[in-house]
Amino acid sequence: MISHVLPTYNRAPIAFERGEGAWAIATDGTRYLDLGAGIAVNALGHANPALVAALTEQAGRIWHVSNLYQIPEQERLADLLVAHTFADTVFVTNSGTEAAELAIKMARKYWSEKGEDRSEILTFEGAFHGRSTGAIAASGGEKMVKGFGPLMPGFVHLPWGDMDALEAAIGPRTAAVMLEPVQGEGGIRPLPDADLRRVRELCDRTGALLILDEVQSGMGRTGKLFAHEWAGVTPDIMMVAKGIGGGFPLGAVLATEAAAAGMAAGTHGSTYGGNPLACAVGARVMEIVADPAFLAEVNRKAGLLRQKLEALVAAHPEVFAAVRGQGLMLGLKCKVAPADLVKAGYAEHILTVPAGDGVLRLLPPLTITDAEIAEAVQRLDRAAGRLE
Ligand SMILES: Cc1ncc(COP(=O)(O)O)c(C=O)c1O
Repeated sequence: MISHVLPTYNRAPIAFERGEGAWAIATDGTRYLDLGAGIAVNALGHANPALVAALTEQAGRIWHVSNLYQIPEQERLADLLVAHTFADTVFVTNSGTEAAELAIKMARKYWSEKGEDRSEILTFEGAFHGRSTGAIAASGGEKMVKGFGPLMPGFVHLPWGDMDALEAAIGPRTAAVMLEPVQGEGGIRPLPDADLRRVRELCDRTGALLILDEVQSGMGRTGKLFAHEWAGVTPDIMMVAKGIGGGFPLGAVLATEAAAAGMAAGTHGSTYGGNPLACAVGARVMEIVADPAFLAEVNRKAGLLRQKLEALVAAHPEVFAAVRGQGLMLGLKCKVAPADLVKAGYAEHILTVPAGDGVLRLLPPLTITDAEIAEAVQRLDRAAGRLE
């Protein structure tokens, strides 16, 4: 008999009832060190007092207001995002997938308003942009799209990081190039800074818009507020979600005024998008994460974790091949099945996440302490030992 919850996930037999910082506490009282953070969502840890205060203060005032009215909390979040990024304007969503949908619509609308027939969007293999029909068409991965056709047309999938293929494909029919600066689900694969600059150049040369999906790599995860800042270039449109809500469902599309030119009243909408509860939390997250002192700490801790992981890889050459990633968005390239390591991790009371390309993902809360980093690597060491 089918479970009451639609069985689209292979779930571990663990249920959590509360959390404290980098710790998730199961219903049987076991404390797990959380290096998954809800897949890069709990950026400020579980039950962060500043976020609990922001949410409960707002909950006592007003929960929901339609976008038919002014929403000061939404404006505050948008102001913060604009102040700290390339963007001139923001549409608030509830998830990364919804951000992908709007990013695609916005790019196509931009060209249609100019009266040009440019609807093609270039994406990369291994990409993950969400599970809506548009987002799976954009990603193109066999596992994601099988059986869900006919797919939305207009996407061309290029080999990951292949700049020659991009140069050959981009042209007068290209509406946009869409990519993750660091592929997350695809296996923590950063695009080298020089290549991201090349993508920007090719977009500038052809007029194509650059859409960056920073749903996983954004909000301080790589040690900059957004990963593209490392390369010194900016997109025209950017998708954000996950960490921006710190655990409350929240996403956003950020855009330049030019890229957003087609999105007049009536062209897009959302009942919940920009909800005061979500935006009150998101604004607090932004205030904390955009602080240069906070980001400096992320970088310092990332250096510490990376150093310890390099030693872990050296100590278990039969289990691990390499460390990769940026900041606290790290991957361990494995010689065993990552899912087996995740399982061994459960036995050592540590949470990790598998990714594509044989990689184990480590996405701890950005607030993880030095002592917790040391503890995490000891637990990973014991988990690897179980597989030798
Ligand atoms: C890069 C990227 N884009 C988009 C999404 C979709 O976000 P959501 O699951 O919030 O819809 C994800 C989720 O994992 C992601 O990692």
